[in-house]
Amino acid sequence: MLSQQQNDLVTQTGPGTPGGRLLRSYWQPIATAEEMPIGGAPMPIKILSEELVLFRDDSDRLGLIGLHCAHRATDLSYGRVENGGLRCLYHGWLFDINGQCIDQPAEPDDKKFCHKVRQTAYRVQEYGGVIWTYMGEGEAPLIPAFQFLDCPPDNRITFRVVQECNWLQGLESSTDPAHTSYLHRMSEATLSDTQGGQAARNARLFNEDIHPRLAIERTSYGCRIHALRKMSGGENYLRVNNYIYPCGTTPSSIEAPPTSGYQGRWYVPRDDYSHTRFEFIYQHNGKLDKDKYRQIRAAQIAPDKRHKRRAENRYLQDREELKRDDTFTGMGRYLAAHDAFAIESAGAIQDRTQEHLGSTDIVIIELRKALLAAIKQMEETGEVPGLLRDPSQNTFPDFICTADYALDGEDGPAYCRRILGRGPSSGPTKVAAE
Ligand code: FES
Ligand SMILES: [Fe+2]
Repeated sequence: MLSQQQNDLVTQTGPGTPGGRLLRSYWQPIATAEEMPIGGAPMPIKILSEELVLFRDDSDRLGLIGLHCAHRATDLSYGRVENGGLRCLYHGWLFDINGQCIDQPAEPDDKKFCHKVRQTAYRVQEYGGVIWTYMGEGEAPLIPAFQFLDCPPDNRITFRVVQECNWLQGLESSTDPAHTSYLHRMSEATLSDTQGGQAARNARLFNEDIHPRLAIERTSYGCRIHALRKMSGGENYLRVNNYIYPCGTTPSSIEAPPTSGYQGRWYVPRDDYSHTRFEFIYQHNGKLDKDKYRQIRAAQIAPDKRHKRRAENRYLQDREELKRDDTFTGMGRYLAAHDAFAIESAGAIQDRTQEHLGSTDIVIIELRKALLAAIKQMEETGEVPGLLRDPSQNTFPDFICTADYALDGEDGPAYCRRILGRGPSSGPTKVAAE
């Protein structure tokens, strides 16, 4: 449970708020690279309660500037890309990628004042299959070169979807290891026709032990999150997921070892009542079957970039499917739709003063502590955790994201120390009560 003040601190991200300053201290994804091809249309972007437009000028340079024209506020995302900038349709004012007004054609030559007019503008960079922005003050840090970003494009595909609730609910769902055995539970019969029956075998990993032993430990980039399940065959099935400052996660694949890859995710506020969920589907070796993922997303995500299953249609819940135990939710097989239901139905901003946390919420508790500590550190010292400025340090030797079998008697942190070939972990470790 949080106090109202704490809940406000971690959920409010508009300009001038402490949470907004924290999130603006890091690069944030704003669009997939596929959405902004050479010659593509300008794209309205809402992020951290600011309305912006992303565009490529006629030299293909990316710009991110205020959405509303500095003249009389018309929406620039409808504008013309020409003459070195983005031209407003109303009176033809032209803005370059730095937000500088460079033409006011309606003004007589002796009355032009372009040099005095500037739109808000933020730095942008394409990396890892998405376009990122830095909205903070001062020198921009580096975008963290995690494996799933710094990999051949063939090994990764990125998608985004808008979810109708505060960003922290999305982040918490992605770091919560306990819900997988419930919210995403499906019968083996339901999954028997998927992946040649492999999906059904994978379902057992979560259905057989519904009380995972959880642990969390701080790392250089955020936290490592461990969930250990005892299988009926005696195996110790361990998932190691991660939290990445300030709004990223990496859930491991829901599959039997050896895993082929994992996901990266970012939960970026649009405003305090909605957020964009970016996902990076990453495969270690060989080419990812991108068409397979495109087809799944096309079937599940509507043209408005929201899930087809949504509150307005009660997530298309099928009570017969639920009664038959085909799925736990009656909401089909697409896991992201289950998550969307769980987080959106908690309210636009979950009232965390009214919740009742249990021992399996230890990850959620630690995650909130990490966020609140980061805000405190920022306010007291001006520094935020996990920022990188030296390219030679832009590596993550303590990063592990996997699903594997641990040795008998080995918990998640001990498994990671063994894999990393290290002694005891440096950060505090919490292990949930069994
Ligand atoms: S409102 Fe954009 S040029 Fe007038
Ligand atoms: Fe989930």
